[in-house]
Amino acid sequence: MNPGKVETQSATQEANRTSRDSLTITDNRTGKSYEVPITDDTIRALDLRQIKVNAGDFGMMSYDPAFNNTALCRSKITFIDGDVGILRYRGYPIEELAEHSTYLETAYLILRGELPTKKQLDEWTYHVTHHTFVHESIKKFLDGFHYDAHPMGMLISSVAALSTFYPEARDIFNAESRQKQTWRLIGKMPTLAAFAYRHSLGMPYAYPDNDLTYPGNFLNMLFKTTELKYKPNPALERALDVLFILHADHEQNCSANAMRCVGSSHPDVYSATAAATAALYGPLHGGANEEVLRMLLDIGTIANVPAYIKRVKAGEKKLMGFGHRIYKNYDPRARIIKRISAEVFDVMGRNPLLDIALEVERIALEDEYFVSRKLYPNVDFYTGLIYQSMGFPVTMFPVLFAIPRTSGWIAQWEEMLLDNEQKIARPRQIYTGYDTRTYVPMEKRA
Ligand code: CMC
Repeated sequence: MNPGKVETQSATQEANRTSRDSLTITDNRTGKSYEVPITDDTIRALDLRQIKVNAGDFGMMSYDPAFNNTALCRSKITFIDGDVGILRYRGYPIEELAEHSTYLETAYLILRGELPTKKQLDEWTYHVTHHTFVHESIKKFLDGFHYDAHPMGMLISSVAALSTFYPEARDIFNAESRQKQTWRLIGKMPTLAAFAYRHSLGMPYAYPDNDLTYPGNFLNMLFKTTELKYKPNPALERALDVLFILHADHEQNCSANAMRCVGSSHPDVYSATAAATAALYGPLHGGANEEVLRMLLDIGTIANVPAYIKRVKAGEKKLMGFGHRIYKNYDPRARIIKRISAEVFDVMGRNPLLDIALEVERIALEDEYFVSRKLYPNVDFYTGLIYQSMGFPVTMFPVLFAIPRTSGWIAQWEEMLLDNEQKIARPRQIYTGYDTRTYVPMEKRA
C-alpha cells in the first residue's frame, strides 16, 4: 500500500486477513511476545517502548535517520503517490489545478481545505492584495546588505525581521491573528523577494500595484522601470501563476518539516517561515533549480553530455534536478513544467540550454544507473530554464520557489498547531559517545 493512503484492500488480501489489525513482535533476547496495534498500515513508535529486557530498561526505540520510514503527522493537505507520480492538493489533481486554477485560489484551497466561492475568493484576494506593502524600515534593513548578497539570504533575514514588526503574531492560538499573519505573509513574500532583486541591481524599489494579479504585481515590482503603469505580458504572467501553483505544497518535505519542527516550540509564524525558507535554500531542496542551471552551463554543449553522465555514474557529481525521496516515477510537476517552458519560449525565444537538458534527460532515462535507481527529472529540472528565459538571474530561482511554498508552509504549521497529538518536536538519539570521564587538568593532557 502506498504510504499515507488508506486504500481498499484487494479481494485476495481481504481473504487472507485475520480479524486482528495488529503486529506481533517476539523479542528473541527474552522470548517475550508483544501485540502492537496497526492503524493505516502504521505502528506507533511509542508502542515499542514496552519492549524491555528488564524493568529498568528504557525500552525499544526505532532508528530512522532522515525520516526514511517515519510518519510525523496525520495530514489532510497534500497527497503524493510517488510510485505512480500522483500529486493532489486537498484531493484535487495538480494537473487540473494547473489547468484551471490560479495561485491565490490554490493557496486558499490548501489553507482552508475547500475551493472558495466567488465571494470567498474575492475577499481572500482583497486581503492578500492589501497586505503587500512592507514597512519602510524593511527597505533600510535591505540596504544594509552587500550588493552581491544572495537574495535567499536576504529573504530569510527579512522574513524573520517581519516578526519584529508584528509582535501580536506571537498569539498563535488566536485564529483571527493567524488569519491576519497569513494574509501578510502571502502578500509580502513577493515584495520582499522583488526588493531583494532590485537591491542586487542597485535599482530603486518598485512598490506593489494593487490593480494587478498576484503574479502580475510580482513582475511589476521586479521589472518596472520608467513606465507609469507596468503591464505584465499575459503569457508570462500565466506561466508564473502556474509555476506558483505547482510549488504551493509538497507534504512533509525538508522545509515543511522545518516549519513544523520550529513551529512546534510556538514562535510566531514569521520566525518559523524564516526557518523553512532556510531549509529550502539548500541545493538538495529548493536550491536545486539554481544548481541545474549551473550544471547545464558547466556541460556547455550536447557533445559533452555523455562525459558528464559518466562522471555522475562514477560518483564525482550529482545530476541536479534528478531523483526524489518520494517520486520513483516522473515528477508530475516536471511534466507540466516541460509544457509551460514551450509556451514561455514562444514569447521569449528558445533557451539554448534546453537542447542540453533534453539530451541529459534522454540519456539518463535510458541508462541503467538511473533506471535501476528510479531517478527521474524532478520539479527543478526545467524550472531554471524558464526562469532564465523570463529574465531572472540564477540566484533568484530558489526565491521563486519560496514565494508560493509559503501557503503550504502556513497550512502545515496551522495543521500542526491544531493537532492535539503534536507536541514540541524532540527526537531521540542513540548515544555513541564516551561513558563518564573524569576532568583532566591541562598539564596532564597528552
Ligand atoms: N544524481 C546521481 N545519483 C543520484 C541522484 C542524482 N541526482 N539522486 C540520487 N542518486 C543516487 C544516490 O547516489 C543513491 O545511489 P546508491 O544507491 O548507489 O547509493 C540512490 O540514487 C538513492 O539516492 P538517495 O540519496 O538515497 O535518495 P534520497 O531520497 O536520500 O535523496 C534527493 C533525494 C532529491 C536529495 C537526491 O535525489 C538528490 O540529491 N537529487 C539532486 C538534487 C535535486 O534535484 N533536488 C531537488 C529535489 S525536488 C525539489 C524539492 O522538493 O526539493
